[in-house]
This record gives sequence, C-alpha cells and structure tokens, in this order.
Amino acid sequence: MKISITYKIPEKGINLLKEKYDVWTNEEDRALTKEELKKLASESDGMLTMLSDKIDKEVIDAGKNKLKIIANYAVGYNNIDFNYAKKSGIEVTNTPDVLTETTADLAWALMMAVSRRIVESDNFVREGRFNGWKPELFLGNDIYGKTLGVIGFGRIGQAFARRAKGFNMKVFYYKRNRLPSEKEKELGVEYLDLNELLKNSDFVSLHTPLTENTYHLLNKERLNLMKKTAYLINTARGPVVDEKYLVKILKENKIAGAGLDVYENEPKLTEGLKELKNVVLAPHIGSGTIETRNNMAEMAAKGIIKALNGEKPFNSVFK
Ligand code: DGY
Repeated sequence: MKISITYKIPEKGINLLKEKYDVWTNEEDRALTKEELKKLASESDGMLTMLSDKIDKEVIDAGKNKLKIIANYAVGYNNIDFNYAKKSGIEVTNTPDVLTETTADLAWALMMAVSRRIVESDNFVREGRFNGWKPELFLGNDIYGKTLGVIGFGRIGQAFARRAKGFNMKVFYYKRNRLPSEKEKELGVEYLDLNELLKNSDFVSLHTPLTENTYHLLNKERLNLMKKTAYLINTARGPVVDEKYLVKILKENKIAGAGLDVYENEPKLTEGLKELKNVVLAPHIGSGTIETRNNMAEMAAKGIIKALNGEKPFNSVFK
C-alpha cells in the first residue's frame, strides 16, 4: 500500500508508516498544487495532509477508487471537505489532545508579547536605540488581575483559561453549549453571551474551529463592542475574524492591540497589518514545538495504520 505525505513531518511518524507501507514524502519546501494533490489521491491508499492543503471535492473524487484515509496533521480540519469524504467512504482523522497545551501556551505568549510590547522593545534594542532607562519607555498594560474572555471553550480554550489562574484573572467564556455549572466552578469561569463577553473583557482570545457558524464571528459589529483598551488574540483560524475591519480598528486605536498566529487569507496578510506597531504576528506556529510535532506525527501515522487495518481510528473526525 502507498502512503503520501504532502510535506516533510518528523521522522517518528514517517518511520512508523515505513515499517508497513511504501511511503512518499514531499521533500520540497513548498505546498503541493491542486493537480499534484489529485494525482497523489488517485494513487495512494492513505494521504497525510497539512492544514494548508485544500482537500476539496475534486481531490476527493480523484481518490475515490483507491484512497481510504486522509490524516490531517492538525486538530483543525476545515481544509478538508470532510462531509464529502465521508460520503465517498474515505476516513478523515486529525490530531486532537496532543497539541492542546502547546497551542494554549502560544496564545498566552502572544497575549504577553503584545500587552508588554516585547517585539517592539526587542527591535528597539537591536537597532541600538536603547540609551538608558526611562520612566515611560514602552509602557504596556498589565495582564495580572485583568478580565479574560475566551471564545470557544473546548480543549484548547479550557487549557488557555487554566493559565489565567496564576495571573489572578477573572475569566468569562462563550461557547455554543454552556458547560454544566460544576464544570464552570471547577475551572473558575463564568459564562457570558458573546456580545457581553466582548464588552467586558480586557483580553479576548479565540479558540473556535472554523465552520459555517464561526466564519466572521467577530465581524464589524462585534469588533466594535470591544473596549478601547482591549487586546484580541487569535490562534484559532483567521477567517473567524473580519481581518480587514480588524486592521482598521487597530490603525485607529479603537482597540489596544492584537496577537495573531492565523490570518484570513493565509499566508497573505491584509494590507496594512504588518505596518501596525500594536500587533504581534506569528506564522501559524500554535502547535510548533518539537515534542508536539513529534506527537502529532505519531498520532497521524497510528490513525492511518488503524484505518488501513480496517479498524476505526481513535482520532477519526466522524464520531
Ligand atoms: C491546528 O492544528 O489546527 C492548529 O492550527 C495548529 O497550530
């Protein structure tokens, strides 16, 4: 059987697959084209795909005679037409759990970096402009004791909220289905509807998957509800926010800043975004640690092995 891996991933996963199958890996440092993905789909039993590969109906159709599993190397799988894959009898897996804490860490790092102006300060020192301590040099905003609003309260949202305990923050959350009150108590969080959460939070962090319901969840009206002193953190998916409008309000200082790991038209940035001083921008590295990327590779490989053995993978996205 043949497995195709659309970008080089850690050896750990590749080696597990090599023990059982013929494995082809894209060794070039670029995403594959639609035509290349279609070709691979037509000749592979399993594909290990990246969140940057658009696996649409055409790619799935190309694989309908041979392909049995698409293993996405990410927890999010909005890049795959998974309903169509299901209809076509193709399994889809993702990599939940193993990247939860790592992604929550990155969200926390962005929050601290933007509120304490770490990147601006770093540039300032490197440029040789640091000529002595000054009482008003790079003043930021406190995180300790502030109010945090978490939108999307699944595994990563909850992991992010747990970090807030050490910072003595009040935590509001918004989720489509409210948690049982015992769980809220255990986590020390309070439910608010989305608009109220936006109005009352000093930091707003997004942790929702991208679906039809969350596309532009933070649209113009909702972004306008945020406090002038508030920060937005997004490590979820770019299209959850109307990025063009976000750039406008950041430019006009209608909110204090943003820490972004994901973009609406990734890897393109909305015009004006990278010129802003009140943003910290990361290149979609939420799960980017050595340990986590190894664990993701192992999980993706194990799911493929299960599926090709005719068993239901533990990480199937079809519950
Ligand atoms: C994912 O796995 O979906 C995340 O975007 C990783 O950062």
